[in-house]
Amino acid sequence: MAEWVSAGRAEAIGPGDREVVEIDGVYIAIFNVDGSYYAVEDLCTHDDGPLAEGTLDGYEIECPRHGARFDIRSGKVLRLPAVTPIHHFDVRVQDGDLQIYFDL
Ligand code: FES
Repeated sequence: MAEWVSAGRAEAIGPGDREVVEIDGVYIAIFNVDGSYYAVEDLCTHDDGPLAEGTLDGYEIECPRHGARFDIRSGKVLRLPAVTPIHHFDVRVQDGDLQIYFDL
Protein backbone atom coordinates (compact mmCIF):
# COMPACT_ATOMS: atom_id res chain seq x y z
CA MET A 1 0.00 0.00 0.00
CA ALA A 2 1.37 3.41 -0.90
CA GLU A 3 1.66 5.68 2.10
CA TRP A 4 3.89 8.24 3.82
CA VAL A 5 6.28 6.46 6.17
CA SER A 6 8.58 8.05 8.75
CA ALA A 7 12.29 7.61 8.07
CA GLY A 8 13.49 9.37 11.22
CA ARG A 9 14.39 12.91 12.15
CA ALA A 10 15.35 15.18 9.27
CA GLU A 11 18.17 16.82 11.23
CA ALA A 12 19.92 13.46 11.49
CA ILE A 13 20.93 13.83 7.81
CA GLY A 14 22.84 17.06 7.43
CA PRO A 15 23.63 18.84 4.15
CA GLY A 16 25.99 16.68 2.10
CA ASP A 17 25.13 13.58 4.14
CA ARG A 18 23.27 10.42 3.24
CA GLU A 19 21.60 7.64 5.12
CA VAL A 20 20.17 4.25 4.26
CA VAL A 21 16.90 3.22 5.86
CA GLU A 22 14.98 -0.02 5.50
CA ILE A 23 11.24 0.02 5.03
CA ASP A 24 9.36 -3.25 4.51
CA GLY A 25 12.54 -4.99 3.37
CA VAL A 26 13.39 -2.25 0.85
CA TYR A 27 16.64 -0.32 1.34
CA ILE A 28 16.28 3.36 0.56
CA ALA A 29 19.12 5.84 0.19
CA ILE A 30 18.23 9.33 1.42
CA PHE A 31 20.44 12.26 0.41
CA ASN A 32 20.53 15.80 1.73
CA VAL A 33 21.66 18.16 -1.02
CA ASP A 34 21.87 21.76 0.20
CA GLY A 35 19.06 21.20 2.67
CA SER A 36 16.72 19.35 0.30
CA TYR A 37 16.08 15.65 0.65
CA TYR A 38 15.96 13.03 -2.10
CA ALA A 39 15.32 9.32 -1.82
CA VAL A 40 15.95 6.43 -4.19
CA GLU A 41 16.04 2.70 -3.83
CA ASP A 42 19.55 1.69 -2.76
CA LEU A 43 19.81 -0.82 -5.58
CA CYS A 44 21.46 -0.23 -8.92
CA THR A 45 19.35 -1.54 -11.78
CA HIS A 46 22.45 -2.77 -13.62
CA ASP A 47 23.53 -5.47 -11.19
CA ASP A 48 22.20 -4.59 -7.72
CA GLY A 49 25.08 -2.33 -6.66
CA PRO A 50 24.74 -0.38 -3.37
CA LEU A 51 24.17 3.14 -4.68
CA ALA A 52 24.49 4.88 -1.31
CA GLU A 53 28.14 3.80 -1.27
CA GLY A 54 28.78 5.65 -4.52
CA THR A 55 30.03 9.15 -5.20
CA LEU A 56 27.50 11.95 -5.39
CA ASP A 57 28.27 14.76 -7.84
CA GLY A 58 25.55 17.39 -7.66
CA TYR A 59 22.41 15.32 -8.10
CA GLU A 60 24.21 12.42 -9.83
CA ILE A 61 24.97 9.28 -7.91
CA GLU A 62 27.57 6.99 -9.40
CA CYS A 63 27.27 3.30 -8.71
CA PRO A 64 30.45 2.04 -7.02
CA ARG A 65 30.41 -1.21 -8.96
CA HIS A 66 30.53 -0.35 -12.68
CA GLY A 67 30.02 3.40 -12.81
CA ALA A 68 26.42 3.80 -13.93
CA ARG A 69 25.00 7.20 -13.01
CA PHE A 70 21.50 8.19 -11.97
CA ASP A 71 19.74 11.44 -11.14
CA ILE A 72 18.59 11.19 -7.51
CA ARG A 73 15.81 13.70 -8.21
CA SER A 74 14.07 11.40 -10.66
CA GLY A 75 15.87 8.05 -10.78
CA LYS A 76 16.67 8.64 -14.45
CA VAL A 77 19.68 6.85 -15.95
CA LEU A 78 22.46 9.26 -16.90
CA ARG A 79 25.19 6.82 -17.88
CA LEU A 80 25.59 3.21 -18.94
CA PRO A 81 25.90 0.37 -18.18
CA ALA A 82 22.49 0.77 -16.49
CA VAL A 83 19.56 1.30 -18.84
CA THR A 84 16.63 1.10 -16.41
CA PRO A 85 15.80 3.96 -14.00
CA ILE A 86 16.14 3.38 -10.27
CA HIS A 87 13.04 3.76 -8.13
CA HIS A 88 12.60 7.28 -6.81
CA PHE A 89 10.51 8.21 -3.74
CA ASP A 90 8.89 11.51 -2.87
CA VAL A 91 10.13 12.98 0.40
CA ARG A 92 8.61 15.50 2.79
CA VAL A 93 9.44 16.90 6.20
CA GLN A 94 6.65 17.39 8.72
CA ASP A 95 7.48 18.85 12.12
CA GLY A 96 11.05 17.64 11.69
CA ASP A 97 9.97 14.15 10.74
CA LEU A 98 11.45 12.98 7.44
CA GLN A 99 8.83 11.02 5.52
CA ILE A 100 9.09 8.83 2.45
CA TYR A 101 6.17 8.13 0.15
CA PHE A 102 6.62 4.38 0.11
CA ASP A 103 5.00 2.99 -3.02
CA LEU A 104 6.71 -0.34 -3.59
S1 FES B 1 25.85 -2.70 -10.44
FE1 FES B 1 25.71 -0.55 -10.70
S2 FES B 1 26.77 -0.17 -12.55
FE2 FES B 1 26.82 -2.29 -12.34
